[in-house]
Amino acid sequence: MTTPDIPPSIPPNFLPKNLEGKAAFVTGASSGLGRRTALVLARAGAKVALAARRVEKLAELSGEIAAFDGRAMPIRVDVTDAASVREAVEAAETELGPLGILVNCAGISVEKWITELGEADFDSVMNTNVKGTWLVAQEVGRRMIRHGAGGKIVNIASVLAQAVLPNLSIYCMSKAAVVQMTRAMALEWARYDIQVNAIAPGYIETEMTREHFGSEAGQAHIAGLLRGRIGRPADMDGVLMLLVSEASSFITGSVITLDDGQTLKAL
Ligand SMILES: NC(=O)c1ccc[n+]([C@@H]2O[C@H](COP(=O)([O-])OP(=O)(O)OC[C@H]3O[C@@H](n4cnc5c(N)ncnc54)[C@H](OP(=O)(O)O)[C@@H]3O)[C@@H](O)[C@H]2O)c1
Repeated sequence: MTTPDIPPSIPPNFLPKNLEGKAAFVTGASSGLGRRTALVLARAGAKVALAARRVEKLAELSGEIAAFDGRAMPIRVDVTDAASVREAVEAAETELGPLGILVNCAGISVEKWITELGEADFDSVMNTNVKGTWLVAQEVGRRMIRHGAGGKIVNIASVLAQAVLPNLSIYCMSKAAVVQMTRAMALEWARYDIQVNAIAPGYIETEMTREHFGSEAGQAHIAGLLRGRIGRPADMDGVLMLLVSEASSFITGSVITLDDGQTLKAL
């Protein structure tokens, strides 16, 4: 990658320890934005449940967090499976205590023209991005309501909840659903002091996008973006910390765009 070497938005050592004592559940923690989210929350003092299917990657991350005396627990979950979600959230609360923070990062995309897409493509993207986000938020939300101590839920949507790109129709549809899910949950759960917000990232360099942006065409694509670069997972640190901390006490049902101005021009 030839993305300029931009510093992380908040260097980990400067993160305030303002999540001390909080328990957090992070899906998609084996990679990309979820992995970074887990690291940032742990650096800020939270006890973090690291949830995804690739447990070997979660174990590695757990070791990294333990190395700075953070607390983390790897948990296998398939977000498309309600029983798996229930067991994972139960295991997290048993080990870490009542959850106060949920960050839903698990997500996939399929790149095909609409005419080429099959039912299995539709099901896998919708089941992961929409049903998966919903199952986890519902399970954690129910528990937050029972515990009576409020909570902060952050769903990772995308700028493609609004913009559309060819080959990504189901992904765009799924992210639009995540935005409406966020707003609906914020509306119903405000009375329980549970805040539900979404982050809508533009292009960020992760496993999901690496192949494209590593190619010659991808490099030309980066050069054409508004500021000639794509994001790194660390670029989400600031908005993430805003939405999981007291700093966001008057924010719920919001979708915060995090795209370096990419959508100000054609993607
Ligand atoms: N990168 C971008 O440019 C960008 C832009 C906008 C929005 N987003 C969104 O950001 C979120 C994170 O994506 P990323 O870029 O970090 O991609 P990534 O590196 O591919 O990470 C995706 C994560 O989702 C997990 N996952 C997928 N299916 C799952 C399932 N059935 N059960 C549990 N976990 C599952 C994966 O873990 P396992 O495979 O180990 O289960 C992995 O940890 C996604 O919702 C994506 O749509 C990304």
